[in-house]
Amino acid sequence: MTESASLEYGPIQPDEAQPLWTLIDQALHRAMQPGWAEHVGAENFRAIRQNGKLAGGMGIMNMGQWFGGRIVPTAGVTAVGVAPEFRGGGAASALLKNALEEMHENRTPISTLFPSTLTVYRRSGYERAGVSTVYQLPTQEIDVRSRDLDIVEADESHREDIFLTYNARAEITSGNLDRHSLMWDPILGFGGRRVFTYLITNDGETEGYIIFQQSRGADHIRVRDLCVLTQGAALRLLRFFADHRSTIDTVSWNGSPADPLVHLLGEQIAQPTRTRDWVLRIIDVQDALSARGYPRNYEGELHIAVADELLPWNDGNFVLKVADGKGQVYKGGRGDLKIGVRGLASLFSGHLTPSEIKTLGGLEGTESATGDASLMFASPRPWMADHF
Ligand SMILES: CC(C)(COP(=O)(O)OP(=O)(O)OC[C@H]1O[C@@H](n2cnc3c(N)ncnc32)[C@H](O)[C@@H]1OP(=O)(O)O)[C@@H](O)C(=O)NCCC(=O)NCCS
Repeated sequence: MTESASLEYGPIQPDEAQPLWTLIDQALHRAMQPGWAEHVGAENFRAIRQNGKLAGGMGIMNMGQWFGGRIVPTAGVTAVGVAPEFRGGGAASALLKNALEEMHENRTPISTLFPSTLTVYRRSGYERAGVSTVYQLPTQEIDVRSRDLDIVEADESHREDIFLTYNARAEITSGNLDRHSLMWDPILGFGGRRVFTYLITNDGETEGYIIFQQSRGADHIRVRDLCVLTQGAALRLLRFFADHRSTIDTVSWNGSPADPLVHLLGEQIAQPTRTRDWVLRIIDVQDALSARGYPRNYEGELHIAVADELLPWNDGNFVLKVADGKGQVYKGGRGDLKIGVRGLASLFSGHLTPSEIKTLGGLEGTESATGDASLMFASPRPWMADHF
């Protein structure tokens, strides 16, 4: 029997939850956020066992992600860890392959995760597909004076306003999560330090919100989440930060590549302090390409030949027909655009253009097919504010 043949994948028993989470905490070199594993739920963890012993595991969260104005169901993978004595024996690869097959059985078309190393995930068909950026801004240097809109403290009765504002932005950007309570609860605060929540309003209409904490040690505002839908809301929020300048030195938030707060400042004083890419795996080419949205005023078809060594149902030719912002996918066709499943992940999210993927060796195709793909997958640069 080969080493990997003795690896077994499956759910965990209730009495295995604590040992698995302890193993994952050790593997990640820092404990998961307190309460996170319980929050994800033992029923959503999967383990890989070698000769009956727990070798590693991970959590799977059923979520959605916005692409082209539509929500694509995604399996968010969290807390991947293999015990050090089991590493290098294919445990993580077997865990991921089995999990991808399970996700496919559940008809989840894509999977998304934050990698701490790319190698093992690339081998499983994941590829860089969007960014996560933390910006920091010194409050003393903010050069915005506008207090035109109102900023009002929010309470639980404003939750719906916050959710709707977030969704309005998610729909017109790319890659934002379709958040459900699993993601919202930690943002809105479940215990611990005080969380402040404000709405930015214009004649009573909500145009933005901010949820933050103050760190006394660093005289810092750490934004848990913010969203601005208009120029006025962004300017009001910058002024709100400036109004803290006598006691707060810096503000940081998770923002987008085209962040309105960064771009509305008079000078380049908001700097990215950390930027990481998240990765995406196309689990089912047909379902994934039919689930996302496309530019509304574009009509055309693309003949794709996909190569996928791990998931055989993806390996082959597909025709993608786009009209009215929607895609229909059939098997077959001429295969004008030859693309690996990893290149397809970067194309799908809009993270890379076809010519960029071509330069990286992930795609070959006629000029006309590459041109069509550029128009079909044109999108704002994908990002997300969440981390999991
Ligand atoms: C990353 C991790 C899950 C891989 O588990 P594993 O069972 O050893 O992985 P596999 O045996 O299936 O694959 C091993 C391959 O992954 C790559 N790899 C594993 N760990 C790596 C690391 N830390 N850095 C870079 N590449 C790594 C190597 O290419 C390795 O192949 P090789 O041994 O032939 O060189 C494991 O090392 C681990 O738990 N690390 C600490 C926690 C962590 O980083 N988790 C990922 C969070 S997103």
